Amino acid sequence: MITIKSKREIELLRVAGNIVYKTHQYLKPYLKPGITTQEIDDLADEFIRSEGAIPSCKGYQGFPAAICISVNDEVVHGIAGKRKLQDGDIVTLDICACYKGYHGDSAWSYSIGEISDEKKHLMEHTEKALFVGLEQVKPGNRIGDISSAIEDYAEANGLGVVKELCGHGVGSNLHEDPEVPNYGTPNTGPRLKEGMVIAIEPMLTAKSPDIEILDDDWTVVTEDGHPAAHFEHTIVVTADGYEILTGE
Ligand code: MF3
Ligand code: CO
Repeated sequence: MITIKSKREIELLRVAGNIVYKTHQYLKPYLKPGITTQEIDDLADEFIRSEGAIPSCKGYQGFPAAICISVNDEVVHGIAGKRKLQDGDIVTLDICACYKGYHGDSAWSYSIGEISDEKKHLMEHTEKALFVGLEQVKPGNRIGDISSAIEDYAEANGLGVVKELCGHGVGSNLHEDPEVPNYGTPNTGPRLKEGMVIAIEPMLTAKSPDIEILDDDWTVVTEDGHPAAHFEHTIVVTADGYEILTGE
């Protein structure tokens, strides 16, 4: 069931989204060679709580860390640990926070020092793919319009679309209906209505889109070892378009 959020709910989702945005801004300066992913996770945990929110990922289906930190060939759901960031890495922070029962969800990929041309191309066009998807958001358009726009853009730029993972509705649950795939057919799927809140999140790969899951049962990696990137915003559908809840 796809719910339409009330004004009061949207206000709480705006606060949650803003906390997620501020957490990204807070962490950015720490993303330097030598910091461990555990140190990043601890900083995120502390910051989110200092804002009166709770890191939604912690304990979600048993997930052990405050945020998801995925490096290079890790697509999503990387778990913090002793790994140190190195020059040339790309790192995705997928941050979810719950404020007074409502969630915000945003992922962003960052480069560490000088990165390869393959990674630059991947990062630039995965971020663009998010905004190409967002352009389709207005009442009357359908989920398939978002999905196909992302897929077409990714393919035009030679990137792989991970099919097993999707965007989703957001509200008092982190994952709600509808699913928002990053591939599909225009003019299909649920119709967008004012007051729907969804997370759009292209997860694209430099080469093959095939993935596997590591022995920790969480970390999703590319099968071919090439890098992946991930950009995500939570948005609310407005009368004539959308408002980003996890942005400036
Ligand atoms: N943003 C992630 C997602 O939508 C949140 C995952 S929480 C986790 O899948 F606990 F599953 F990691
Ligand atoms: Co999400």
